[in-house]
Amino acid sequence: MKTNKRTFDVVVVGAGGAGMRAALTLSHAGLKVAVLSKVFPTRSHTVAAQGGIAASLGNVNEDNWHWHMYDTVKGSDYLGDQDAIEYMCRAAPEVVYELEHFGMPFDRLDSGKIYQRPFGGHMQDYGKNPVPRACAAADRTGHALLHTLYQQNVKANTNFFVEWMALDLIRDEEGDVLGVVAMEIETNEVMILQARATLFATGGAGRIFSASTNAYINTGDGLGMAARAGIPLEDMEFFQFHPTGVHGSGVLITEGVRGEGGYLVNKDGERFMPRYAPNAKDLASRDVVSRAMATEIKEGRGCGPHGDHVMLKLDHLGDEVIRHRLPGIRDIALKFAHVDPAKAPIPVVPTAHYMMGGIPTNYHGQVVAPHGTGPEDVVQGFYAVGECACVSVHGANRLGCNSLLDLIVFGRSAARQIIEDLKNNPNPKHLPADAAERPLARLARLENQKNGERVSEVGDAMRKTMQAHCGVFRFPDLLAEGVTKIREVAERARHTEIKDKSKVFNTARVEALELDNLIEVAQATMTAAAARKESRGAHAREDFPERDDKNWLKHSLYYSEGHRLDYKPVRLKPLTVESFPLKPRVY
Ligand code: FUM
Repeated sequence: MKTNKRTFDVVVVGAGGAGMRAALTLSHAGLKVAVLSKVFPTRSHTVAAQGGIAASLGNVNEDNWHWHMYDTVKGSDYLGDQDAIEYMCRAAPEVVYELEHFGMPFDRLDSGKIYQRPFGGHMQDYGKNPVPRACAAADRTGHALLHTLYQQNVKANTNFFVEWMALDLIRDEEGDVLGVVAMEIETNEVMILQARATLFATGGAGRIFSASTNAYINTGDGLGMAARAGIPLEDMEFFQFHPTGVHGSGVLITEGVRGEGGYLVNKDGERFMPRYAPNAKDLASRDVVSRAMATEIKEGRGCGPHGDHVMLKLDHLGDEVIRHRLPGIRDIALKFAHVDPAKAPIPVVPTAHYMMGGIPTNYHGQVVAPHGTGPEDVVQGFYAVGECACVSVHGANRLGCNSLLDLIVFGRSAARQIIEDLKNNPNPKHLPADAAERPLARLARLENQKNGERVSEVGDAMRKTMQAHCGVFRFPDLLAEGVTKIREVAERARHTEIKDKSKVFNTARVEALELDNLIEVAQATMTAAAARKESRGAHAREDFPERDDKNWLKHSLYYSEGHRLDYKPVRLKPLTVESFPLKPRVY
C-alpha cells in the first residue's frame, strides 16, 4: 500500500505546554513546523494544571534561584541531575516574564506584580520556611498558559494537525530519527511525516492506573513509540501520587488549597501532618504527604464508612477567598464531592498524578541513549521535552509547580538546540523503504483479529494490576507477582479485537493503539520498581525502607526488548555552582 508523505523541518508530537512552547520558538525562527495532537491543542492535559508555575520572583517574600535549586534537588531525593536542575531554576524567572509578555493573564498582587502562593517543598533559605513561589492564574494556571501559547502559535503560523495520532518513530539503520508515521483519527489515513528534527512532547501516562488525576488522553504514546524503536526509558519506577485527588473520582484538588492555608484532617478531626513533617506540615513534598495519608488510612484513622480517605479542610479560608483564589476547586468540590468547601471538608485520597521517568534527555532536549555511536550518545534528529522526557530535574519526586516550569524551560531550550542542529543539517536523510511497515502491520493486525478480547477488558486488567501492585507503598511479594501479571496482560494486549467495527466511530481503534503504548509504560514501571531495592522519593518499599545511596544512587534504564534493566550515574555536578551534598531528607 502506498503511504502519502509530507515533509517538514520539525515535527512536534503533542500540543501541550512543552510542545507549543517549543513550536513557538521554532516557528519564530522561520522553520516549517508541524504540531500533531490527538485533541484540539487547548484540550491538551496542560489545561488541567491548577496551582501555578514555580519561579523565584520574590514578589511576596525574599527568594532566589539557589533556594529553588536546593529545594528541587532535595525534593528529588538527590536523584535529580544537578546540571539540569540549575539550568531550570535559573531560567525560571525569565521564562515566566516571557509568558507574561506573551499575554498570559496571571493573577496580580496589589503592587501589580504577579501573584505567588506557597506550594509543597518550596522553601526560603535552604529549607527553612515555606515561600510563595508558585505564579498563579487563580487555580487555572495551565488553562491560561495553554491558551496563551496556542494564540501565539496561530500568530506565528505553526501548522497544526488536529486529531492526528503518531503511531511510530522512523529510525534508519544508523539509529537516526527521520520523522513519524501518523494516522488521522477521523479518516484512518496513515501518513509519513518526514522531518529533520522530531520532538516528542506527548505528556504522561497516568492512565496506567485506575485512579488517576490524568486525562484519558495521557497514554504514554511517546514512551511507547520510543520503547518500540529500541530507546530505553529512564527512572520509570518513580510515579508520583498527588495527595489530594477527590475520593471516588480522582479529580485533582490543587496543592494550592494547602498553599492558601487548607489542611488535612483524619477521622478524629486531627491535623495529622505536623506528626510527619513538623516544619513544613501540609506543605511537605508530595511523596511525604501521600505516605502520611496512606499511613493514617492503614492505621484505622481514615474517614467515611470504609475509612478509606482523609479530609481536606478549607472552610476557614472563607467563601470570598475560595471564590476568588480557588474558583475551579469550588466547582470540582460541588460537582464531584457534592460539598461546598466553604462549609464542609473535601474527601481526598492519594491519586496517581505524574511520571518522573521518561525518555532520557540532556537539558538541551536531545535524546541521549547509550548506543555507542557518537558524542554523549545523542540520538540524531530526536528530542523530547515535558512529562514524556526524563531530563532529569525531578529525580525520584517532583515538587508541585515544577512541572509547568519544566515544560516551558525545556520546550524553549530544545527548540534553540534544534535551530542550531538544523544549521548543520540542511537536507533530510533518505527514508528507509520500510518506514511505515511496522505501524501498518499493527493496524492490519487490529483489522484482521478474530476472537480477541475487547480493548477495554485488557485495559482494565492493566490498570487494576498497576493499582494493586505498584501503589504508594510497595511490597516485595506484590511487586514480584505484579511483574508476572503485567507481562500476562501485555500478551493479552497483542490479541485484542475491535468489536462491532461498523457501529462505532473509530475510538476503539485509537484505544487499542493507546493500549500498546500504555502497556510498554506499565511493564517498564513494574519491572524497574521490582528491581530497585531501596526507598527513595515516590518509590517506598516496605522491605527496604531506607534510601541506599551506596548501591542505588543511579538512574535506571529499561529496555522493552527482553525487559532488560541497566543503570547510569546521577549527574551530581551543577553547571556553575557547588553540588548540594547528599543529606537525609526531612521536612
Ligand atoms: O496541585 C497542583 O496544582 C498540581 C500542580 C502540579 O502537579 O505541579
